[in-house]
Amino acid sequence: MLSKDIISSMLPDTLVEVYKVTDSTNTRAIKLSEETEKTVLAVSEEQTQGRGRQGKSFYSPAGGGVYFSLVIRPDGELNDIVFVTSAAAVAVAKTIEEMTGLEPKIKWVNDIYIDGKKVCGILVQSVIQGGKVRGVCIGIGVNISTEDFPEELCGRAGSLGKEIDRNIFVARVCEKLIQFGANISDRSYLNYYRKNSCVIGKDIKYYENNIEHFARAIGIDDNANLIVNEDGEIKNLSSGEITVRL
Ligand code: BTN
Repeated sequence: MLSKDIISSMLPDTLVEVYKVTDSTNTRAIKLSEETEKTVLAVSEEQTQGRGRQGKSFYSPAGGGVYFSLVIRPDGELNDIVFVTSAAAVAVAKTIEEMTGLEPKIKWVNDIYIDGKKVCGILVQSVIQGGKVRGVCIGIGVNISTEDFPEELCGRAGSLGKEIDRNIFVARVCEKLIQFGANISDRSYLNYYRKNSCVIGKDIKYYENNIEHFARAIGIDDNANLIVNEDGEIKNLSSGEITVRL
């Protein structure tokens, strides 16, 4: 059972709300953040309108997963949202590793894979109030024990397949993100990101202006961009979706 008391006790300065079911924890957390200056966390057992990147929906059934959104208010360059995005992947992957002994892999920018299947999606949004960026909402959905996925996700989505305490999991991921937000210029997390990338060294496909490109991923630069070699030309990709070619 998700417990507001347990999570709050581990995150003392954070406003925590726990839902049995809600539309989207990103929506809830952003709404809550309009009424407080505190860090905000919304956690749910289930989402009816879970949102993914690129306008896609995110499958969020009850029972098998956990869905949560943290609004942090980092000092400094809020425009550096790309760092929050990649740091979130590290926070989740490290926590999975610590709590299960599994070896999660990070697919640029921030999908988490285990045994070739996506077990976690992350959606980062700026929180804009009064025309200004007031924070960053980091929405995280993890499949912990979900076994049945809709047809379109079959073969691509997976679960941790290990029992973990979801309250402790959520709190530990958030602890790492709050710590990161307090020192957003620290890029040392990129070492873990690089070490656990499942993309570096692989042939990839990406789209730029609707044009298909094929390249070899060769690294992650200090701005969390993906460095690719495209027919001998070195490029640094800053955003977008890639497909890893097997
Ligand atoms: C993706 O893989 O496309 C990103 C999925 C992000 C899903 C999480 S679940 C918690 C939070 N609330 C949402 O509506 N989306 C994010």
